[in-house]
Amino acid sequence: MYENPRLVLDSSNPPEAGSITWRSPSNIALIKYWGKYGNQLPRNPSLSLTLSASCTDTQLEYAFKDEAHGSAIDLDFFFHQSENEEFKVKTLAYLESLSAIYPFLKQLKLTVRTGNSFPHSAGIASSASAMSALALCLCSLEDKLFGTLQDGAEFDKKASYLARLGSGSACRSIFPHAAVWGETSLVAGSSNEFAVPVGDLIHDTFKDFHDDILIVSSAEKAVSSRAGHALMDDNPFAEPRYAQARQRLEMLLGAMRTGDLETFGKIAEDEALTLHALMMCSNPSYILMQPDSLAIIEKVREYRAETGHQVYFTLDAGPNIHLLYPGDIIHEVRKFIEDELAEHCENGYVQQDWVGEGPEEM
Ligand code: PMV
Repeated sequence: MYENPRLVLDSSNPPEAGSITWRSPSNIALIKYWGKYGNQLPRNPSLSLTLSASCTDTQLEYAFKDEAHGSAIDLDFFFHQSENEEFKVKTLAYLESLSAIYPFLKQLKLTVRTGNSFPHSAGIASSASAMSALALCLCSLEDKLFGTLQDGAEFDKKASYLARLGSGSACRSIFPHAAVWGETSLVAGSSNEFAVPVGDLIHDTFKDFHDDILIVSSAEKAVSSRAGHALMDDNPFAEPRYAQARQRLEMLLGAMRTGDLETFGKIAEDEALTLHALMMCSNPSYILMQPDSLAIIEKVREYRAETGHQVYFTLDAGPNIHLLYPGDIIHEVRKFIEDELAEHCENGYVQQDWVGEGPEEM
């Protein structure tokens, strides 16, 4: 869609060296993306809230290099100030995969310096924030070198598209408050290729919303998301699941439009449990929840029944619990977490987060 052989630098008029920095947040899906086809295209539309505190800062330095220096992409990669070979190899493969979109990358010496706001290996998914931050840097670089992304909406769309190629869910992190990724008649302009903002379609309640992440375990997952998506191909419940996601998206968008927290929360919890149920009935089957995940879920449901406070949970593909609640009950919920839930967390660790305004260029 964005292949462009004209994005090549003129070696008789080389650009000055420079650098670009973006801070980009993670996001939490309410309607889950689980199952894909082709080049990172989703089997069903998903909807997420954009977070704020869990983010990645990425600086991209660039300098023109002589053709004589070869035509492979030239990259140095630093993660939290240290060279990181594993991330470098992954990033190189990603940048190579963009060579038809960005042929000029081969003409530059690139240095990426990146870091997360949350402790490394806290068990918080970092691919969404990391890939969206890098994609935003690349779009800024294109615009700096060629002036071709002046339009804000076009810039965001391309950044979302490029982020998707790195990690599917990353395409939703580009937008403030909430985003939908995947073609659906419910959202004008929606696409399987990139996410679109839906902040304007939701009640203000969800713009002052919290997601405190209860870290049950920071250990690396036994089954990666990539492998999990692949197992959906032979999952006997795959087709009904994709249909269910579409129905739930419609119900969720309705509830988020009117501020119906009960319906919102029911769908969020049902989606989380469906995601994990799909893992349990994959072949081979696997379980990512842990006893403490279940203990927290039980306590959240009890607390809600007893107090009437609108606190709900969701999970991504791991054992950690995301607690979702509106800002007006923050004091009550934080006390509940401290008194009853922190004991189920690894070293009592809770990453406090909330719905945010999306990425910013630094
Ligand atoms: O973006 P990926 O390939 O890591 O997949 C993410 C999948 C879930 O986090 C489980 C759901 C989602 O929509 O973010």
